Amino acid sequence: MKGLILSGGKGTRLRPLTYTRAKQLVPVANKPVLFYGIEAMVDAGIKELGIIVGDTKAEIMEAVGDGSRWGLKITFIEQSAPLGLAHAVLTAEPYLRDEPFVMYLGDNLILSGIRSLVDEFRNGSANAQILLAKVPNPEQFGVAELVDNKVVKLVEKPTEPQSDLALVGVYMFDKTIFQAAKRIHPSARNELEITDAIQELINMGFQVDPHVVRGWWKDTGKLEDMLEANRMVLDNQNSRILGNVDQYSQIDHKVVLEDGAQVVRSTIRGPAIIGAETQIIDSYIGPFTSIQHRCVIRKAEIEHSIILEQAMIENIAGRIEDSLIGRFVEVIKSPCKPRAFRLVLGDRSVVGML
Ligand code: DAU
Repeated sequence: MKGLILSGGKGTRLRPLTYTRAKQLVPVANKPVLFYGIEAMVDAGIKELGIIVGDTKAEIMEAVGDGSRWGLKITFIEQSAPLGLAHAVLTAEPYLRDEPFVMYLGDNLILSGIRSLVDEFRNGSANAQILLAKVPNPEQFGVAELVDNKVVKLVEKPTEPQSDLALVGVYMFDKTIFQAAKRIHPSARNELEITDAIQELINMGFQVDPHVVRGWWKDTGKLEDMLEANRMVLDNQNSRILGNVDQYSQIDHKVVLEDGAQVVRSTIRGPAIIGAETQIIDSYIGPFTSIQHRCVIRKAEIEHSIILEQAMIENIAGRIEDSLIGRFVEVIKSPCKPRAFRLVLGDRSVVGML
């Protein structure tokens, strides 16, 4: 069985970060979301993995490399434009050929892994297996209607959902999906929807098995979802202190401090992760915070936030919460008079003032 991860598309809901970076590379607990998908594939016994790439091809390829660190043979497959998930599947047909495959959306995160589900599909007779999860906002997903545990209808982002069962971004298919994907037409958002292709499989009389997942799953397309994903992953980590903590600092509860990180006259209350060579000085880092490598946090308080590499946050009077701060960003007290806010913000940045 091969694997296919979709890492093309546009990350409009995570702007402005995704103006300059692929959404699949935004980190959760200091690791790109995409890597959780790759690791889930490895855990499920996949040895050959295709990764669909689009405009952000160069940075995805650079971040992933040749796959040898996971013992994988990785092939990057270029999609001409983000014309939908079923379009991506058709683009990958020459790579996948007749082999059954697991498809994983590169911005999804499933904490419990997918090994048993992949085994079930390998050993079963279904043409497709879909994963479903109960959600409070089904209108934002593909939605499935089940009768007697059989899928009877699938609709992509319905305005009036007939159930609360959302399609999770992990699917297992055999080659019949190519026939189905070739028979469908673009949706209202002008995409070839995988949801429609699976509905077509059902219409054609093929076997589509549903599996309701009880573990935790997140589509990390939006800020709140990123923060929640970050919370869940940090909560499951164990403490690991490789950096330096001075005698005036205090660290407690599930804190990871990477190599070369320094904590000086500060308190870190986990779950939290502090990246390599980051400096935390005269500061407080509260629960559910991920700070990537080479950041400087001085005289600041940060909680429930994600801070990307080489950001600098200094001399801030109030506490920073629920925030996502991009690479090389500086949040510093205005150095000169008159006292004023001095902002250099990219398009669609959001600042919550006190
Ligand atoms: O997260 C689960 C949902 O994912 C499902 O419930 C929906 O049925 C399914 O259509 C999908 O919805 P989204 O609107 O969230 O998909 P999105 O456009 O975010 O794309 C998902 C991933 O696939 C993302 O990593 C980008 C990549 N992608 C997307 C498109 C449209 C591609 O590689 N190529 C594409 O053409």
